[in-house]
Amino acid sequence: MTKTLLLAQTLRFDGNPFLNGVEAARHERHGAVLVENGRIADVGCADDLRAAYPEAMIQDLGKALLLPGFVDAHMHYPQTAIIASWGKRLIDWLNTYTFPEESRFGDPDYAREIAARSFDLTLASGTTTLCSYATIHPESVDAFFSEAQQRGLRALNGKTCMDRNAPDTLRDTAQSAYDDSKALLEKWHGVDRLSYVITPRFSPTSTPEQLEALGALWAEHPDCLMQTHLSEQTDEIAWVRDLFPEARDYLDTYEKHGLLGSRGLYGHSIHLEPREQDRLSETGAALIHCPTSNTFIGSGLFDFAMAQRLRVGLATDTGGGSSFSMLRTMAAAYEVGQLGGTVLHPAHLLWLATAGSAQTLHLEDKIGRLETGLEADLVALDLSSTSAIAQRSARAEDIWEAVFPTIMMGDDRAVQQVWVKGVPVKT
Ligand code: GUN
Ligand code: ZN
Repeated sequence: MTKTLLLAQTLRFDGNPFLNGVEAARHERHGAVLVENGRIADVGCADDLRAAYPEAMIQDLGKALLLPGFVDAHMHYPQTAIIASWGKRLIDWLNTYTFPEESRFGDPDYAREIAARSFDLTLASGTTTLCSYATIHPESVDAFFSEAQQRGLRALNGKTCMDRNAPDTLRDTAQSAYDDSKALLEKWHGVDRLSYVITPRFSPTSTPEQLEALGALWAEHPDCLMQTHLSEQTDEIAWVRDLFPEARDYLDTYEKHGLLGSRGLYGHSIHLEPREQDRLSETGAALIHCPTSNTFIGSGLFDFAMAQRLRVGLATDTGGGSSFSMLRTMAAAYEVGQLGGTVLHPAHLLWLATAGSAQTLHLEDKIGRLETGLEADLVALDLSSTSAIAQRSARAEDIWEAVFPTIMMGDDRAVQQVWVKGVPVKT
């Protein structure tokens, strides 16, 4: 088998910097990653690995920083073409821009075109795994998974279930949501690098009967993830209170119907009550932080203290989010932290975009770190990709000062190369 030795600066994590401090990050100025058969076969310093594998083909990436490919833990690929739509808050934004666009995804050709576009844009930005919502149409799930499969990507997706408070063209029923989700799960879950995610959109668009049906499906397939939205905007929370008067709080609308658990992904989770925080933490659930979306739609500031208590991932939430790039998303997370009184270190940001997100998806043994045995989904960052960034990083005294300007100001020009299972994909 061909061995390729990538020479670059490398960054590895011995632990979670939110729990173990930023010392959990280990930088190697002259590092190396050996790729064989689509996997990381060894990681170390360049001199040692060159000596150990004289037969390996060498690719010298110079001063680039080699990282695991970014993991976007919550996005809506069907909203790709309506990103950056002006002037609305959540419920208005859904009704005005999102639902009309999502209504088009019963057309398999359109769904496939947008799925391909989403992967093109996100791969160019260094993202190698998407955990996406589809639309209510099974065709939209087939399109996403077929496109991911053709590209050899690790990817996650689920049919977005809604049986109320949505246009006629976007409503299923409790029974059809269960039946369609089950059929798609049986078709795609565990095929190649694909995982099915049970996906009730959020409590306002599901009847209690639909939530119950999807809770039952999850109980039948406990190895699946479940994704939904939680406590994003204050008017949404008030609406949930009206729709579910018997519930203790927003989280309770999920908990009562079997939709709270350690494989649950709760997008946004901004305005949580103490009881909700405690229950999420006790059950081992994961929160997905979507900072460009939370500022763009005007939702609020995520509380990073939650990262001490449970797993937190990072996500673009395209197209509520205003960027396809996890670099831009890390920058927004930094800014949200500053506004809330938490100064996130570059190690926190890079962890969230890679290993942290992978952990929320229960994929930490497969992706998200530069470790032997993991899949070789990688990104090489040019830390001097524009003159504005280069003039700042030229003064850097350590790796953190060198990488932070790229986090704050970088875009797809900083993404020098991307590998999917060891194969370069950026042209
Ligand atoms: N809540 C329910 N659906 C959505 C969505 O598509 N985007 C965002 N940001 N929030 C939601
Ligand atoms: Zn979302």
